[in-house]
Amino acid sequence: MILQADGLRKFYGEFCALDGVSLRVDAGEFVSIIGPNGAGKSTLINILTGITRPSAGSVRFKDREVGGIGPVRLARLGMARSFQLVQIFPDLTVLETLQAAGVARLGRGGRLFASLAGDREVQEAALEVAELFGLGDKRHTLARQLPQGDKKLLDVASAFALRPEIILLDEPTSGVSTADKTAIMETLVTASRRIGLRAIIQVEHDMDIVFAYSDRIIALHEGKVLADAAPAAIQADRRVIDTVIGRRAGAH
Ligand SMILES: Nc1ncnc2c1ncn2[C@@H]1O[C@H](COP(=O)(O)OP(=O)(O)OP(=O)(O)O)[C@@H](O)[C@H]1O
Ligand SMILES: [Mg+2]
Repeated sequence: MILQADGLRKFYGEFCALDGVSLRVDAGEFVSIIGPNGAGKSTLINILTGITRPSAGSVRFKDREVGGIGPVRLARLGMARSFQLVQIFPDLTVLETLQAAGVARLGRGGRLFASLAGDREVQEAALEVAELFGLGDKRHTLARQLPQGDKKLLDVASAFALRPEIILLDEPTSGVSTADKTAIMETLVTASRRIGLRAIIQVEHDMDIVFAYSDRIIALHEGKVLADAAPAAIQADRRVIDTVIGRRAGAH
């Protein structure tokens, strides 16, 4: 077991966004979290990555209770994430973005960003990740000038620049064409093998991608786990198909 959640609840005022969610992820797994809009997927990722504090329940990462320790310390322990809405700095270049991520990993946070240009280790690590993600040729391009598919890739690459053991991705392929989705997933899977990532957890709406890449699928509905099973079992589960996939038709 690398990541385990037990009895997670999250209230926003009176509203219960997560209502007793438990899960576990083992080393080597690629797990997808699916569910209709508002099911609680992002809330779950935010709790697992220490950004949101649960109202109740616990999260264990590598056999350590990590509830409430915060995203920075979790990143140092080996957990990284990307966001549903790309969170890159528009006026940094690809390389600068990846250097900024490397700063956190290498503990260079006490120094001014400007002085990092001369930090060979940070520079080399950033270039390596850029190349791993096929962004080497665009290393001097400003993030805001990248096409949407490359922006998503840069966001995922920034998480990889932390050299995590596990990574959580909130809709890594949203807002890009079907062809770009597959390209992003192929790049991601190749990169994770190269850096020896131990597990990937993603929220994804595109069921072709979910079925093609997942070892296991967790379906959420109204803050509860509706199903937690292998892709073939999920595909054969009418309740999941009707609730999660049926409702999604035309939703995005
Ligand atoms: N900060 C907040 N304050 C109040 N309600 C919130 C907050 N964040 C989320 N919610 C509500 O909690 C529920 C779950 O939201 P969440 O963003 O986790 O859903 P989701 O499954 O990620 O949906 P989507 O597919 O649209 O991304 C929704 O009803 C949402 O409106
Ligand atoms: Mg969401």
